[in-house]
Amino acid sequence: MSIAPVLSFDDACKLGKVASVDTSRVLIAVENATLLPRAAVGSLVALQGATAQEYLIGITERVTRQLREQTAQPDPMSPTTLETEIVPDDALRVTLVGTYRTVDGTVRNRFKRGADSFPQIDRECFLIEGGNLQRFMGLLGKELDETQRLELGTFVLDQSAAAIANGDRFFQRHASILGSTGSGKSWCVSLILERANARQHANIIVFDMHGEYSSLANPTAPQGGTSPSAIASQYKIAGPGDLDSPPANALFLPYWLLNREEMLSMILDRSDQNAPNQASRFTMHVRALKEVTLGTSHDDVKATFTVDSPIPYKLNDLLTRLETDDTTKGVGKSGPVKGEWEGRLTRFISRLQAKAEDRRYGFMFKPPDTALQYDWLAKQISSLLAPGSGKHGIKIVDFSEVPSDVLPVVTGVFARLLYDVQFWMEPEKRTPFAFVCDEAHLYLPVKEDADAVEKQALYCFERIAKEGRKYGVSLLVVSQRPSDVSRTILSQCNNFLILRLTNDRDQNVVRRLMPDSLAGVLDGLPLLDTGEALLLGDAILLPARIRLNRPTIEPLSQTREFWKEWGEREPDAAAVEAAIETLRRQARAGTGST
Ligand SMILES: Nc1ncnc2c1ncn2[C@@H]1O[C@H](COP(=O)(O)OP(=O)(O)O)[C@@H](O)[C@H]1O
Ligand SMILES: [Mg+2]
Repeated sequence: MSIAPVLSFDDACKLGKVASVDTSRVLIAVENATLLPRAAVGSLVALQGATAQEYLIGITERVTRQLREQTAQPDPMSPTTLETEIVPDDALRVTLVGTYRTVDGTVRNRFKRGADSFPQIDRECFLIEGGNLQRFMGLLGKELDETQRLELGTFVLDQSAAAIANGDRFFQRHASILGSTGSGKSWCVSLILERANARQHANIIVFDMHGEYSSLANPTAPQGGTSPSAIASQYKIAGPGDLDSPPANALFLPYWLLNREEMLSMILDRSDQNAPNQASRFTMHVRALKEVTLGTSHDDVKATFTVDSPIPYKLNDLLTRLETDDTTKGVGKSGPVKGEWEGRLTRFISRLQAKAEDRRYGFMFKPPDTALQYDWLAKQISSLLAPGSGKHGIKIVDFSEVPSDVLPVVTGVFARLLYDVQFWMEPEKRTPFAFVCDEAHLYLPVKEDADAVEKQALYCFERIAKEGRKYGVSLLVVSQRPSDVSRTILSQCNNFLILRLTNDRDQNVVRRLMPDSLAGVLDGLPLLDTGEALLLGDAILLPARIRLNRPTIEPLSQTREFWKEWGEREPDAAAVEAAIETLRRQARAGTGST
C-alpha cells in the first residue's frame, strides 16, 4: 500500500521562484500575485529541494510589495510617445527551518529540523495552506511515541493540529517560560505540571513565590461542579507563625545545612577590618563543632568531612565559642595583655545574634529540636525526592513568607542540597527531577548586579544549569523580566516558551538567546494574545506559534477586578485593624499558615 505524500502541490499554490539565498534566508520573487495576501508573516513555504522528493521548509518573515515604474509597451498607434507604468514587485523573505521528504530511505513523509541543502536560484516555491498545512502540522508530533509526548496546545497556523513537544527534550537541557506579567506564564506552568502528573513518577519541585500554585494541591470545585483531584503536594518554608508548633508540611533549612560561604554571605560584613579574622574563627569553630557531633559513631564520615558537610551542631555552642574568643585576654610576661581575638569578633557575633533572634529567619535559626538530629536530613530530603507510592511527585514549595533579602540564599541552599544529594547518589539509582523556578528574576539576578547573598544562589543554580543534565537535574526558569535574569542560566536553556513580551529590553535579551535566523519570527512577540506563545527549541521540530491549552486546575489568580469591585464593596475597617496586628505578629491568626 502506498502512503499519500503529506505535501503535494498544484499550480494554484505555486508562489514563484527563489530569487536570492544567503545562509538561512531566502528571497522569493512572487509571481502569483493572488497568493500574496494569504502569505502572512509566520506562514509556511515549501521550496523545491535537491530532488523531486525533497522540499525545504521556510517560515515567512517579511512580505513586501514594491511598486516600480517601468516603460510600458510602446503603443502601436503612437510608437513615439513612451508611457511609463507602475508595476508591483512582490517578494517574500523566508527563513529556512527544516527539510521535508516524501520518501526518505524506507520512511515516507519525514520532516526534520534544519535545511539539508541550500535552495537554488529559480527553484519553485509553494505556499503551504489548506489540506497541505493540516497534514503537515499533523506530521510534526507524529514521530513522538506515547512516552515522549508533551501536549501544550494547538498551532495558531492550524487550530486543528495539536502542538506536541518532546517531553524528554523539553526537560533534558533546561527550559524557560518568559513573558510579561499577565501573559499566561503561571497558567502554562500549571498546564505543564498537569501533563507531568500523567507520568506515573513525575519528580518536580516548584518554587512558588506567591503561594499561587496551592490550588494544585487543594483544588476547589468550580461553581456547581465537583472539584478535580489534587496533582501536587504542598510544602512551605516555615514562616514566623509556624515556629512554635510547625505544621507537618513546614520545611526548615537549619543554619547547619549552609556551607561556609552561604553562611558568611549572610553574616559577614566584608568591609569590617576584622572580617578575615571573623571568617577564620567561624570556620574553625564550625568544623570543630561538627566533629563533636560526629563523636565516635560516624568514624567513616569523620575521616573525610569538611566544614561544608551538612552535619548538625548547636548554634548556641558556636556563639559561646565565638564569645570566648572575643573576651579572652592574652597572657603576657607581666600579667594579661589584649587577647589575640579580643574585641575582634564583637560585631560578627551581634550580626549573627540579630539574625538568630529574628523570627522571620526562624526557618533557618529556630528549627525544631528534631532538626538537630543527625538523621533528620535524610528524612527531609527523601520526603521531597522520593516521597513514596501514593504520594504526589509534584511538590509545590511556598516561599511567600521568606524575607526577600535572604530569598536567594534560601532557594540556592535548597536547590544545592537536592542537587548534591543527586550528585552523590549511585548513577543507576537516580531519578531525574526538575526545579520550576517561578519569578526567577527575584533570586537569579544578572551577575553584575548581585550582592553577596545573591551570588551564592547564582553559583548554585548556574552549576545546575551547566552540569545538571549529567545528573538528571533540570531547570524550568519562569520570569516576567528576562533582562533581569542571569544570562548564564538563560543561555543554558534549550527550549523556550515565549509569551507576550512588551518591554524592549526583555525582547532584546530573548533575541540574543535565539539564533539570528529566528529574528523575524521574534518580531511578533509584543502582539501575542494572552495564552499564546512561541515554542522554540529542540523539543519541537519547527519553531511555532501556539495557543496554550488551559490547565484543568487554574493557579490562584492575582487579577482583581478594580472597577467592578469599586462598585460593589466598601473597604473593611476591622480587617485593616486586624491586618495591623498580623503585621506586628508576623503570623496570620489561627493555624499560622497562609
Ligand atoms: N492558556 C490560556 N488561555 C486562556 N486564558 C489564559 C491562558 N493563560 C492565561 N490566561 C489568562 O490570563 C490571566 C493571567 O495569566 P497568568 O498565568 O496568571 O499570567 P502570568 O503568570 O504571566 O502573570 C489568567 O488569569 C487568565 O485569565
Ligand atoms: Mg505568574
